[in-house]
Amino acid sequence: MKALSKLLLKNHQNSPQIFKGSFAFSSSVVPGHKQQPVIIDLNDLKRQDTNIFEQIEEAYSDKGLGVLLVRNSGESKQRYMQNYLNLAKQMRQISEYKGDLSYLEQPHLEYGHGLNLGKDGYLEGGDTLQISFYANIIQESYTDHKGLIWKNVWPKDKEIAPEFEKYYMSTGRQFIDTAIMLGKKLDDYLKYNVKNYKMQIEQGIAKSPRISARSIYYAAPKNKHNSDLPKNWCSWHKDYSYITGLAPGVYVDSQDNVKHSNGDPEAGLYIQKRDYEILKLNIPEDCMCFQLGELSQIVSGGLLQALPHAVKMPVQNFDMPRISLAVFMEPEYNEPLSVPVGTNMDRVLTKQDKEHKLSPLEERWKDGMSFGDYYENCRISFSYAPDVNKKQ
Ligand SMILES: [Fe+2]
Repeated sequence: MKALSKLLLKNHQNSPQIFKGSFAFSSSVVPGHKQQPVIIDLNDLKRQDTNIFEQIEEAYSDKGLGVLLVRNSGESKQRYMQNYLNLAKQMRQISEYKGDLSYLEQPHLEYGHGLNLGKDGYLEGGDTLQISFYANIIQESYTDHKGLIWKNVWPKDKEIAPEFEKYYMSTGRQFIDTAIMLGKKLDDYLKYNVKNYKMQIEQGIAKSPRISARSIYYAAPKNKHNSDLPKNWCSWHKDYSYITGLAPGVYVDSQDNVKHSNGDPEAGLYIQKRDYEILKLNIPEDCMCFQLGELSQIVSGGLLQALPHAVKMPVQNFDMPRISLAVFMEPEYNEPLSVPVGTNMDRVLTKQDKEHKLSPLEERWKDGMSFGDYYENCRISFSYAPDVNKKQ
């Protein structure tokens, strides 16, 4: 860590004022892990007279877990947990509803908006036990660079999840507000440590007309002897955002009782580090997780690293579905994705992608490409939608 700091500081030219004494605030760890994720308190993120350079380096450098957790307290904790847990219950109700919800599906958008019944998937195959619900938190309708209209849709029948939209938008907004603050801290860190860095993460998020959230329901695998079942609820992949907000996965039974574990230590979110070690990540119930995406890897010249991750299915205790929420902090479509001038590309393009059977970044991105073009390449490379059988 120290060696990395030295290297980084050497590369810096115009040092801004830096608050050297600002590290003495709460940073805590989650017990039971080999390497602990970095957790910072929301109040420390809000303070403008501090930097969180050490925490960013520990979380997002090539030695980190690619995640940084923000702990809510007081009013923000109450709001976060109330909105999110109610959202999870209503997502279960929608996902298990037996009536017709086809009006919520948007095949012309490759099911990337509204209700998606098991049509997402990455290179390991269609992740058919997933049900997703996508909506734009920023505005109700968005026209993309190809003229496609991404309009939010919500359940009409008030007997199904009557406050789904309210809880969905409130939780998503809280994630975005926190992400903008984190984006400012990332910009400060990169400005200090990377020559020719353009301050773009905070504004890229704050000015984006489209920040989509994805409420995810992973159905409980009813038949544990079914050999066709994939091992993962969500296959190995990396995110194509600046950062992705992730709520803790929760298990919801048919009576809407929410549990933070299904009792199976195998099930849950896994991360593979740059040294290939695979670790399970548990997100505490009062925390928001922010996982680094490839956009930050690119614009930081590889100083920050996005890591492969997957959600593993249980090997025992098959009775409850798992629900979570992801919020993708992405810029507008024409935002250029460039490395800082003078970047060594070897730091940005990592050999781990190919070894992982993930589509390598160099096959989806060229320096200076717009976010929209990169996004299209990612969807073609990673996604099985719209026809899960034709890809491979
Ligand atoms: Fe992801």
